[in-house]
Amino acid sequence: MHKFDSKNKSKLDNEWRRQNLPPSKTLERIGLKSSDAVADIGCGIGYFSIPAAEMLTDRNKVFALDTSEEMLTEVEKRALVAGVTNVVTINTEEYDLKLPDDSITFALLVNVLHEINDRKRFIGEIKRILKLEGRLAVVEWKKEDMEMGPPTGHRIGFDETVRLITEEGLSMIDKMEFAGAFYGIVFKKQE
Ligand SMILES: C[S@@+](CC[C@H](N)C(=O)[O-])C[C@H]1O[C@@H](n2cnc3c(N)ncnc32)[C@H](O)[C@@H]1O
Repeated sequence: MHKFDSKNKSKLDNEWRRQNLPPSKTLERIGLKSSDAVADIGCGIGYFSIPAAEMLTDRNKVFALDTSEEMLTEVEKRALVAGVTNVVTINTEEYDLKLPDDSITFALLVNVLHEINDRKRFIGEIKRILKLEGRLAVVEWKKEDMEMGPPTGHRIGFDETVRLITEEGLSMIDKMEFAGAFYGIVFKKQE
């Protein structure tokens, strides 16, 4: 699978992205609550982790998870600048999120799923860290030709994402679109 190159960090926070996928509004739309315990899986530079941390009450944390140490260093810098103290970075393995079972109420997966080889195994690992009734919000590029984003062939379509995640036993509870370019789906762990 095509992996995001950390040299392209600037693509994760720029004017286009702030207009089309504004972080706080996106988090509100996908249903983040101030009482959530959050895992931002494949957090990149923390474009969503920092605003998510700001939306939580002080004692709740955002675990910012990434396989790239370089990305996590950037998250730590950004957290310092923003003055947030409830972001915890964890350098994870491809299929090991390094969090305890049943510890998270809100897992966020933005533009990551299309980079994963064994998606079934990856979703199983996310399900492991989610509490019962916990939610998983997936945001992905629509699988259409467009100027921005990865090539169409590298993307994962809406139907494929729904099938993959419901087959792992999570239920779809909400869906939405962002700027005609992205789809969002929220799932719940109910078993
Ligand atoms: C396109 S970036 C998206 C970053 C962030 N979610 C955002 O929307 O700004 C994809 C990120 O996923 C990370 N990643 C890829 N595979 C991963 C895995 N198996 N576990 C954790 N992070 C992963 C990459 O290192 C990269 O930082």
